Amino acid sequence: MKFVRKIKEAAGFANKPVSADLYAAAGEERLSIPLIESLPDEELSRLNELLPWASFVLDSGGRMFGAPYSRSKRSSAQPMPDYRAGILDSEFGLKGRAVLEAGCFEGNHTVGLAQSGALVTAFDGRVENVVKTQVRCSFFAIKANIVYWNAETQKPGYIADRFDLLHHVGVLYHLSKPIAHLASLLPLIETGVLLDTHVADDMETQVDTFQGLEYRYANFREAGREPPFAGLTPSAQWIHSEDLLSTIRYFGFKNARIIEDRSEPNGKRVCIIASRN
Ligand SMILES: C[S@@+](CC[C@H](N)C(=O)[O-])C[C@H]1O[C@@H](n2cnc3c(N)ncnc32)[C@H](O)[C@@H]1O
Repeated sequence: MKFVRKIKEAAGFANKPVSADLYAAAGEERLSIPLIESLPDEELSRLNELLPWASFVLDSGGRMFGAPYSRSKRSSAQPMPDYRAGILDSEFGLKGRAVLEAGCFEGNHTVGLAQSGALVTAFDGRVENVVKTQVRCSFFAIKANIVYWNAETQKPGYIADRFDLLHHVGVLYHLSKPIAHLASLLPLIETGVLLDTHVADDMETQVDTFQGLEYRYANFREAGREPPFAGLTPSAQWIHSEDLLSTIRYFGFKNARIIEDRSEPNGKRVCIIASRN
């Protein structure tokens, strides 16, 4: 409880009355979550206090399941399913597909992918994020394989060697060796990839190499172990989008293209779809 309190204090949410903790502003998307709706307010409040939530969804009564991270970050209900699950579904079809989800955070993508019929294996390098994803999925009555893996290390044996699809959103730009990471992950994927990441296109770049492949990157300091979104190493590389595309093609995904290119407060971000054929 002390840890939860620390996070809440840092986010400015400590000592909020139960009603303000539970009920979000009107107008946000509400979801049918029968196992949450069966909980009285007091029990749902306890569930929300139990874990260091940093995002939330709303049940059909407008009550929060989870908690906002701060007044400005993840401060509104998470869309579920996220539109990128829809893109994966329309490109490749999700029903019955084995999907590997990188950096599952609190399971907001995991639920959406599984509700579309995907057989999801989700991993995260923060054990509390693994637990929050397990709890999120269980209250959505969703079955998924949710495991711990710090992707800066070798893949553990309990993660399979073959998947149909890769869902990789908001994680690559937190890694210290993103090209080495892709080199280890892409051979596991048989059909298609959705990769959404910040890129270094507008920045001053340096050059690194991986197995003889040169790539341009910008160096970023990471925020440490405590923030739930950050990387797990002191710094990360943001890759130039052209080099990212050529890396993905090099590892067998001949059709790799940017389908979305957006400017965010932290920098340029792209969404890439890639397929082997
Ligand atoms: C910015 S959040 C994105 C979360 C989610 N994919 C989304 O789009 O909302 C980054 C996530 O990746 C996880 N992560 C960061 N570095 C990681 C690593 N080396 N291995 C595994 N997960 C990592 C974090 O714990 C966090 O859950």
